[in-house]
Amino acid sequence: MKLIVTGAAGFIGSNLVGHLLNEGHQVAGIDNFSYGFERNIAPFRNNKKFSFVEGDLRDKAALSKINCDAIVHLASQKIPRYSNALVTLDDNTTMTKNVVAKCVQDKIKIIYASTSDVYGKNPNVPYSEESDLTVGKTNVKRWAYAVSKIYGEHYIIANHDEYGLDYTIARFFGSYGYNQNLTWWGGPQSVFIGLALKNLPIEIHGDGKQTRTFTFIKDTVDGLSRCIFDSNASNQVFNIASEPKEEITILDLGKLIWRLIRGNDAEPKINFIPYASFGNYEDVLRRVPDISKIKTILKYQPKYGLEDGLTETIKWQTGLND
Ligand SMILES: NC(=O)c1ccc[n+]([C@@H]2O[C@H](COP(=O)([O-])OP(=O)(O)OC[C@H]3O[C@@H](n4cnc5c(N)ncnc54)[C@H](O)[C@@H]3O)[C@@H](O)[C@H]2O)c1
Repeated sequence: MKLIVTGAAGFIGSNLVGHLLNEGHQVAGIDNFSYGFERNIAPFRNNKKFSFVEGDLRDKAALSKINCDAIVHLASQKIPRYSNALVTLDDNTTMTKNVVAKCVQDKIKIIYASTSDVYGKNPNVPYSEESDLTVGKTNVKRWAYAVSKIYGEHYIIANHDEYGLDYTIARFFGSYGYNQNLTWWGGPQSVFIGLALKNLPIEIHGDGKQTRTFTFIKDTVDGLSRCIFDSNASNQVFNIASEPKEEITILDLGKLIWRLIRGNDAEPKINFIPYASFGNYEDVLRRVPDISKIKTILKYQPKYGLEDGLTETIKWQTGLND
């Protein structure tokens, strides 16, 4: 198959491209390098089955000259913790509209990257695809990201209803691993690993009792690949995550990373940062996936526990710093 991967130079994009090329597919990647890196796609540059366009998906023409069988739409702005809610809303909706327009016009499938953030602060965990999406108030800008992704999901499903667009929506839960962004853009694990490697205190936002369920990138890519190729994935929404038992508090994540890097006897250095320092911020207290749908329909089975995945990630991140 020939696939377009948007956001190909980013974290999930570059890992997906590597997997698709290994499986013998042809891939056209596109990225504007706003959050992506040349080093992420450098290994594929000489692969004859890989082509790359440096382009901006806010521009409708960016994809017009590429023909393909399906588009995996990963390019996105994320939670505006340090950035700007207007950019998140504008960029995410414009890019999704442009990608959907091409898919409708060329009659090809879209695989859309959504997020566990769409479940918002729904207190009823675990989150299944049938759970309510309970985002917070509009004056808390972190919800702009979830709202932009909810809009994207609605927009895609409405295009399915009106024009027969074939789609699969993948809701990722905190993925981590090779090529992850090393700042908060890449998630707490990236930052914690970087700090522990430098023997600097781990920065915990709030009291650290908030929980997440992290997914190693190889499992994320495996789930995403099933969403692309399995015909049973058509016109469905799937959580892509690790097992619910992997739920961990952010404080325990910090301590685990410290132990894996600095040894069992090292007392972790922790620095608590009050939420108030981010302005009007609101956190999600528990985030736990229900993955029974993707397990049943797409035969997905995550293979990496948190400690194994982190060990791999730390090896990769240590190599980068060498
Ligand atoms: N990483 C996770 O844990 C996670 C969790 C939930 C959802 N997601 C979603 O998965 C997708 C991929 O996430 P990621 O972690 O790989 O993010 P990432 O930021 O590493 O990759 C996104 C890529 O999109 C590119 N991009 C952004 N705006 C663009 C534009 N206007 N034109 C062209 N390229 C543009 C960036 O340069 C970047 O390389 C995103 O849609 C994200 O919202 C990721």
